[in-house]
Amino acid sequence: MQIATTVSEVRQHVRAWKREGLIVGLVPTMGFLHEGHASLIERAAAECDRVVVSVFVNPTQFGPNEDFESYPRDFRADCALAESRGATLVFHPEPSEMYASDACTFVDMDGLTGQLCGKSRPTHFRGVCTVVCKLMNIAGADRAYFGQKDAQQLAVVRRMVRDLNIDVEVVGCPIVREDDGLAKSSRNTYLSPEERTAALVLSRAVREGRALIEGGERDGERVLAAMRRTIEAEPLARIDYVDMVTWDSIEPVRRVDGPVLVALAVYVGTTRLIDNFIWEG
Ligand code: PAJ
Repeated sequence: MQIATTVSEVRQHVRAWKREGLIVGLVPTMGFLHEGHASLIERAAAECDRVVVSVFVNPTQFGPNEDFESYPRDFRADCALAESRGATLVFHPEPSEMYASDACTFVDMDGLTGQLCGKSRPTHFRGVCTVVCKLMNIAGADRAYFGQKDAQQLAVVRRMVRDLNIDVEVVGCPIVREDDGLAKSSRNTYLSPEERTAALVLSRAVREGRALIEGGERDGERVLAAMRRTIEAEPLARIDYVDMVTWDSIEPVRRVDGPVLVALAVYVGTTRLIDNFIWEG
C-alpha cells in the first residue's frame, strides 16, 4: 500500500491505473478508522481493482464551536487497518493541500440540507459537498463508497453527483454496529464508561421505531413520540432531533406512505451521536 500527501501524487497513480483499464474505488474518511470504515474499504476492494482511501479531517465541514481540533487522529493505525482490508493508496493531505488560502469556490445545495443534521449544523453539508466533490475529482474514481450511518450525507452526495454530472457511481453501505447495538463511530471514543452505556438509547430508539412501523404504525408522530420517550428516560442523553423525512429527498413527512428515513441526533454528555433507519416501504 502506498501513501500520498499531494493531489499530484494521487493523480499520477490514478492515471497509470486508468491506462491499464483498471476500476478505481474511493472511500472518503476522516480517519480514526473502525469496522464501519473497514466495511466500506472491503466492499470497495471486492468490487474495484484499486482502492483509494482518503484520510482527511475536513475543516470546512465543522462549525466554529465543533470538535475539529479535538477530532481523534491516529494515522499509523489508519494505514494498518486500510492496508489489511485491501486499500491500495491512502491519501492523507494537509489542509493547505486541499484548500488554498484564497480558495473561494464551494459546492452548496439548496435542497436536502434543510432538515436533520443540516438544521443543527447549517454549514456542514457545504463543507461535505465541497470536499467530496474535490476528492472525486482528484481520485477520478469509478465508484465511491459511503455508509448509511450518515444517511443524509449519502442522499446529499448522490444528489450532488447527479446534479453536477460527476462521473462516479455512489455505493451506499449498511450501518456497522457494536455487539450491543451502538453504531460504530470515531466519536464513540469521547464517551466515558457511563456515557457509553447511556449511548445505547440511540440504537434502542431505532429498534423501537422500526418495530412500530413494521407492526403497521403509519402515523409518523406516534413513532417519533415513542422514540423520544425512550431517549428522554436516559438522564445522560439530550435530544438534538428525532425526525422522519422522505427517503431519499429528505423532505418533512408525517405519514409512512413511501420510503422514509427516521433519523436522530442525541448528545450523550457533550458528545453528539447519530443513528437512523431507512424504511423502504
Ligand atoms: P467519517 O465520519 O470518517 O466516515 C467516513 C465514511 O464511513 C462515511 O461514508 C460514513 O458513513 C462511513 N461510516 C462511519 N461509521 C460507519 C458505520 N458504523 N457503519 C457504516 N459506515 C460508517 O463521513 C465522513 O467521514 C466525512 O463527512 C467525509 C465523507 C469523509 C467527508 O469529509
